[in-house]
Amino acid sequence: MNNRLKVGVLISGNGTNLQSLIDAAKQVNFPAEIALVISNNPNAFGLSRASKANIPIQVIDHNTFEDREAFDRAIDTALKKVGCKMICLAGFMRVLSAQFVDSWPMKIINIHPSLLPSFKGINAQKQAIEAGVQISGCSIHFVTSQLDSGPIIAQVAIPVLNGDTPTSLSARILEHENKVYPIALETVVNKLLCLNPSSKSINQSETTDSLLSIY
Ligand code: GAR
Repeated sequence: MNNRLKVGVLISGNGTNLQSLIDAAKQVNFPAEIALVISNNPNAFGLSRASKANIPIQVIDHNTFEDREAFDRAIDTALKKVGCKMICLAGFMRVLSAQFVDSWPMKIINIHPSLLPSFKGINAQKQAIEAGVQISGCSIHFVTSQLDSGPIIAQVAIPVLNGDTPTSLSARILEHENKVYPIALETVVNKLLCLNPSSKSINQSETTDSLLSIY
C-alpha cells in the first residue's frame, strides 16, 4: 500500500509485540510501516528483531541523559527525523514526560498487561494475582500525561487460573497482546481517529469487528 503512515516503535526488552507489528506490517494492505525502532536498553532483544526485518534501529539510553526531558527530546528528534507520525509503545518501560506526550496528542498508543483502569504501572500481572482477581487481560490505549489512563482502544479479558504465577499469567496475556496490538494499530490508523483526550473509549464497534474475526 502506498502512503502508509510512518510509525516509530519504542521498546525496552524482548519485543514480541514489536514482532507482531513487524509481521502485520508485511501485509500489503496494512496501513502503517515501521520507520524506526528505538530502545532505551542497548541489550533489548527487540533490536535484533528489527534489524532482521531491515528496520532502522536507534539506542537512546536514558542513563546517558541528565534528565527525563533531555532523553525525551532525543526520542522526539529521532522520530521526527524519519517522518514518524505516530508512536507505538511496545514494552517500553520508561515514563514519558507530560511535555513529550502533550506534543504528540492522541498519536501515541501503548499496550498494557491488565484490564485498565485496574493494575496500572509496573508488574501488572503480579498485582492482578495479589488482588485475587479471576479475570485479567490486556489493554491498548492512547497515551496521555496520566500514567496508563488514556482512552482505551481495545481490551481482551483473560482468565487468571488457580496456581498462576506472575510468569505463567504474563505468558498467557502476552499471547493475546501479540494478536491484538496490530489490530488496534490498524484500526486507529484506518479510522484516523480524532479524539478528545478526556474520552474514555473509542467507538467500540471498530475494534470489536476486527477482534471477533480472531476470537
Ligand atoms: C508486555 O507484556 C507489555 O504489555 C508490557 O511489557 C511486556 C513487553 O513484552 N508493558 C508494560 O508493562 C508497560 N507498562 P514484549 O517486549 O515481548 O513486547
